[in-house]
Amino acid sequence: MSEFKADFGLVGLGVMGRNLLLNACDGGFAVAGLDTDAAKVAALEREAPAGRAMGSTDTFAFVKLVKKPRTILLLVPAGDATDRAIADLLPHLEAGDLLVDAGNAHFSDTERRMAWLNNQGLHFMGTGVSGGARGARFGPSIMPGGNREDYERVRPLFEKIAARTENGPCAAWLGHGAAGHYVKMVHNGIEYGLMQLIAEIYDLLKGAAGLDNHELHLLFRSWNEGRLHSFLMEITAHILQFPDTEGPGLLLDKIQDKAQQKGTGKWTSQHALDLGIPIPTIDAAVAMRGLSALKQQRLAASAKYEKPVPHLSGMDVERLSGQAEAALYFAFLGTYAQGLHLLREASREKGFDLDLATIAGSWRGGCIIRAQLLEDILSAYAAEPGLQHLFLSERIAGQLAGAVPATRELLQAAVRSGIPAMALSATLAYFDAWTSGRLPLNLVQAQRDCFGEHSYERVDREGVFRTNWH
Ligand code: 6PG
Repeated sequence: MSEFKADFGLVGLGVMGRNLLLNACDGGFAVAGLDTDAAKVAALEREAPAGRAMGSTDTFAFVKLVKKPRTILLLVPAGDATDRAIADLLPHLEAGDLLVDAGNAHFSDTERRMAWLNNQGLHFMGTGVSGGARGARFGPSIMPGGNREDYERVRPLFEKIAARTENGPCAAWLGHGAAGHYVKMVHNGIEYGLMQLIAEIYDLLKGAAGLDNHELHLLFRSWNEGRLHSFLMEITAHILQFPDTEGPGLLLDKIQDKAQQKGTGKWTSQHALDLGIPIPTIDAAVAMRGLSALKQQRLAASAKYEKPVPHLSGMDVERLSGQAEAALYFAFLGTYAQGLHLLREASREKGFDLDLATIAGSWRGGCIIRAQLLEDILSAYAAEPGLQHLFLSERIAGQLAGAVPATRELLQAAVRSGIPAMALSATLAYFDAWTSGRLPLNLVQAQRDCFGEHSYERVDREGVFRTNWH
């Protein structure tokens, strides 16, 4: 086997990395894998078709397995582990070799690594990959950024292993610099928002309206057959009927209500704040993960305050489920709108040169936020590439407006029942603010000027004014 030459190599043979390699083997590629864990290397060689894959625990031996100029993907945890993996490879690489970080790196790390490696004559691309372990095995959504010429080198591989819709592979060059990791970060922010919204609707229907798990399963399943059709709705319906193998009942009911996070949602909020772009649904989702983790404090506080009697019991279930479906549709659209708005402004700020229709297109298959409503979003941006915000699209406005009254009614019931619907109410408030020609921030400007002489503009005259309020 000494003449074995891999088309590309991959560092990090965890389940994602191994699955990506097996996917590439199915697509006809010869692959090499590196991991410090010999058992993972053995698993790759055992699971791959004969003669298609070789692994190693030794960096030098691994690098020699890859055809020159080399293309090596990194699928290791974001942060220091990625820097360590690069530093380990570096002495064995040659000018012209290409490293592709396919992990969930922070975009600023990708910018730093591009500069660092380009200085050494190496090429470096940051690429988002979404779809979890199954996606990696059978077709993820791939979000590459960086130099276009570098993308051309990996394009045949990415287009072969990516998920496909009837419009082609869910892989396309998205933009310059760290665009790939930036888009993946915002993808994850949207993912946080959608997941939180689904959880709030589940809470409302279960906690306040008293629907049981089976009724909820049927409801989510039927919604998934309509305009809410999406990966997250599909897995929610599935989870809502999944038995606990350790005892009676559903597994879902046995799971602690403390959500963890690896940081991509928080990064989205942080950078949106830096740019001054409002994404309150995603902020609320991040806040709810934080709140969920404070279990002991929540338990202590719950003993001190009485909750109102759930308001929804006795309400017509069909009417309620119609409202919940409309509210989810409204809030899903609102969440994508926020994420895409952030991408638009970040592209301008950082020179990514993003095309939002292409991004919506590459999210249609393979990734966690794939959803039927992305077709409408794609059409909206394809029809009007300069569209400032999704809410301004004629195609979207009618659908959004149609779902607003039901959302208001449902939220009123949530408030009266003491059910925290932070993401849903943030989305509605965002919509109400976006669609208000006049906001009460005139008062904020007056306060700023009153206590700090910060000045203000007037509605009736040009210029900047100050007043002695005292
Ligand atoms: C994907 C996911 C994935 C992410 C998990 C967990 O697109 O496949 O976004 O990249 O790591 O969803 O993220 P949290 O641990 O932050 O929830």
